[in-house]
Amino acid sequence: MSGPLTVSLGERSYPILFGDDLVAGIRADVKELRAAGRPFAVLTDTNFQAAQASALAAMFGAAPVLAVAPGEGAKSLDGLGRVWDFLAEQRVNREGVLFAVGGGVIGDLGGFAAASWLRGIEFHQVPTTLLAMVDSSVGGKTGINITAGKNLVGAFHQPRKVTISTAMLATLPAREFAAGMAEVIKYGLLGDPELFADLEASPLQPGSASLADVIRRCCATKARCVEADERETAKEGGRALLNLGHTFGHAVENVAGYGQYLHGEAVAIGLCAAARLSQNLGYIGDSEVSRVEQVIAAHDLPTRLRVALPYAELHAAMTRDKKVRAGGLRFVVLKRLGEAATQSGVAPELVKTTFHDVGAS
Ligand SMILES: NC(=O)c1ccc[n+]([C@@H]2O[C@H](COP(=O)([O-])OP(=O)(O)OC[C@H]3O[C@@H](n4cnc5c(N)ncnc54)[C@H](O)[C@@H]3O)[C@@H](O)[C@H]2O)c1
Repeated sequence: MSGPLTVSLGERSYPILFGDDLVAGIRADVKELRAAGRPFAVLTDTNFQAAQASALAAMFGAAPVLAVAPGEGAKSLDGLGRVWDFLAEQRVNREGVLFAVGGGVIGDLGGFAAASWLRGIEFHQVPTTLLAMVDSSVGGKTGINITAGKNLVGAFHQPRKVTISTAMLATLPAREFAAGMAEVIKYGLLGDPELFADLEASPLQPGSASLADVIRRCCATKARCVEADERETAKEGGRALLNLGHTFGHAVENVAGYGQYLHGEAVAIGLCAAARLSQNLGYIGDSEVSRVEQVIAAHDLPTRLRVALPYAELHAAMTRDKKVRAGGLRFVVLKRLGEAATQSGVAPELVKTTFHDVGAS
């Protein structure tokens, strides 16, 4: 099994541990906290609680667990209030630790609760979806949604440790696994051509022997981007490269209505759009676009909108995206398969053509 990685951020550095079953390691962490008299609390959602009750018990014993309702709705002011109340009930002091055990929703919500509780306590990420393992549990972006938009309120708060135990994926629904694959394919496209070639040669399955290794490679790419540009302030490249496919994808999620597409499904369409835009800009050719579409389709993900959405609305949603900089839209494009770059100043006509290429009306 692959060894740990370190996200190197000076005093905020932390390890990412990988393994088939790391329940015993978490139990040891809990024992250490108890021995040191440090309070801790556990946040999860009711789906994971029901699906993996024995793993939860093995990790945390009889410790109190707050299980919120599953889904994006938990990442709300209401949900945040419930976590704060729970931390208060459990008398979690400044020495305390919050374990966020779940998908990206739980990681983002728990991370923001930890960032704000007593002005910041330690938190550990225990991701349980493929998306959370390869993406949201690493990098310290935390937050909640408000009526005005997704992820508009949040903080950079790095976890103290990330423990990735692939056995957690045994109960993940197939559609959620596929959604996580969109982010895996993204890493191949933006900085790991070998990974992309491996996915082309044989699609990754939940039971693939290489799963833990692939997750580790994705985390290594994410760690590199985060280390180079922790707060996404670089003028070119940096952490923004992780948004490959996301400018288009967020617009699709927003216009289709949240829930129509899983985040990863919208990102998959966004990756196809990014490939088309790169072609429209003359960086890659027809055959590269087809290769991107084939890998995405081979992982049970959409390459085009299922039902046409109006371009005008998609464009409006794009310009509302918080990642849009003063001075206009900034896209992440492919210079080749395995190398991405940020690109400003794209002609509006090209954006329109690109959206039509993936099925906008
Ligand atoms: N912070 C970041 O850098 C970052 C990056 C990408 C996405 N995100 C956020 O992540 C969220 C999406 O994350 P997600 O796709 O993991 O969604 P999610 O947390 O909603 O989990 C998906 C579904 O799987 C269920 N589930 C989780 N683990 C399970 C398991 N092991 N067995 C059975 N069911 C399980 C959940 O209950 C839920 O129904 C979004 O809110 C997005 O904004 C954050």
